[in-house]
Amino acid sequence: MKKKIVEILQCFTSELIEEDMIEIPTYAHLGDFALPCFPFAKKLRKSPILIAQELAATIKDEKIEKVEAVNGYVNIFMKRTTFTYSILTTILKQGKQYGSSHIGSGGIISIDMSSPNIAKPFSMGHLRSTVIGNSIALLHEKSGYKPVKINHLGDWGTQFGKLLVAYKLWGNEKKVRETPIETLLALYIRFHEEAKVDDSLNDKGRAAFKLLEDGDAEALALWEWFRTESLKEFQQIYDLLGVSFDSFQGEAYYNDKMEPIVGELLQKNLLLESDGALVVDVGDSFPPCLIKKSDGATLYATRDITAAIHRKRTYDFAKSLYVVGNEQSLHFAQLKLVLGKMGYEWSDAILHIPFGLILKDGKKLSTRKGKIILLEEVLNEAIQLAETTIEEKNPLLANKKEVAKIVGVGAVIFSDLKQHRKHDIDFDLKKMLQTEGETGPYIQYTYARACSILRKASAQSAFEVTDVNDYEWEIIKSIEQFPPVIERATAEYDPSLLAKYAVHLAQTFNSFYGNVQIMKDTYYLSYRIALVQSVVIVLEESLRLLGIKAPMEM
Ligand code: ARG
Repeated sequence: MKKKIVEILQCFTSELIEEDMIEIPTYAHLGDFALPCFPFAKKLRKSPILIAQELAATIKDEKIEKVEAVNGYVNIFMKRTTFTYSILTTILKQGKQYGSSHIGSGGIISIDMSSPNIAKPFSMGHLRSTVIGNSIALLHEKSGYKPVKINHLGDWGTQFGKLLVAYKLWGNEKKVRETPIETLLALYIRFHEEAKVDDSLNDKGRAAFKLLEDGDAEALALWEWFRTESLKEFQQIYDLLGVSFDSFQGEAYYNDKMEPIVGELLQKNLLLESDGALVVDVGDSFPPCLIKKSDGATLYATRDITAAIHRKRTYDFAKSLYVVGNEQSLHFAQLKLVLGKMGYEWSDAILHIPFGLILKDGKKLSTRKGKIILLEEVLNEAIQLAETTIEEKNPLLANKKEVAKIVGVGAVIFSDLKQHRKHDIDFDLKKMLQTEGETGPYIQYTYARACSILRKASAQSAFEVTDVNDYEWEIIKSIEQFPPVIERATAEYDPSLLAKYAVHLAQTFNSFYGNVQIMKDTYYLSYRIALVQSVVIVLEESLRLLGIKAPMEM
């Protein structure tokens, strides 16, 4: 709508009007849109009050009901009926396509997301990466890009040598099969405890990793088994979250691909020796990037440089995103700089999409020793709590278990996405499961309520809009904002814009529901049903793009 306002206004003034100059007044009596005239005063050598008055007097358009000048603002009131009819017909015609665009022109966006470490618990950070990455992927798809979701598993590195040694000393096959991550983590922790008193263990660990790197059959078989068992456990979480991946090529995949890249660095004269290690100097703002340790072992960064080049060759991405916590900012800054120094212009398209921590009572949720919080347990607790609420509120609901899953998981995802990703967020299961306030269940509840209205209404024929009350008008203005919100959320890699939008739309719908007897007045019925249908479409699509399911009943 703002675009149209700009077009209209531009016909009546020679001053340049831009979209972000248009304000949406907080109070309805000040119009649907307002143009503050203060920015023009200096150039026109007139008071803003006078400019507003003169401009307001000239504006005439069939879409506009009236224009008023108040204190230097031009307040614009839209012709509600015309506008409402046009937006409702658009949404009903486009259905789920409403808000889709071709902005991305089919460009490929690779998204490095989730990326947990084998034999270690799936942490809260991995949860954030998974849900933020998933929503960013869905938003990009909606905007005409082709997302490729890559799970860059942490399945390589010296720690696997240690794990092999620990397993051979103290391992138990049955326990690994039953509770892989718990068992492997315990072995890893024990290794560190015992290595404190027996340093020879560390040498054994290094030797075991060397065997693994060189492709020793026994070491490789054990490692693969650890990987498979861990992945099975991760897969349960992905199934619960409803997230899938296009690739599980993790760090190990690059084991035999790093040497040519190290060769390329050497040939481009970028490798320096430092205390026996090989590094790339990336300028004064950052420490040098470590490529090889003095014992010849490669590192996390070596694998990421190799992976970035491999991804460019495989996908020819337009952009390559890394949805990884704030704490790895230095690593990704170095990655980008090294690729730049190698002469790859596309290093500009490497983007770290950072996020903050999940806190509990102001403290970091830790997965270290003793304090492990297994994510699966958290999700199951959320589902349980959701089930208790359903049992209280709607005991006759048909598929309670299924709905509880949708609500419990949706609540966790929504609480993660509703704040800007860079903020640390507080993890409070009870709060995120409330059906009031800015929560996932609140939006799902609103959606189910709208669906139930549609179930009660018989099929409606064509509708007319003869009159739009204030409650309806608020909904219309909100659903009209859906496409630009999608556009911004995509461009800024910011699902929280969409989450906040969904809360606002749900609020406007609920105040309509609480104040208007929707089914009572047959004169308005088909129009109001069209309005409810449109809300259902936009709410469902908003939730879908956040990675959350919408229950028809709850
Ligand atoms: N596995 C790493 C971790 O848990 C995250 C990997 C992120 N992706 C990457 N390409 N470095 O910290």
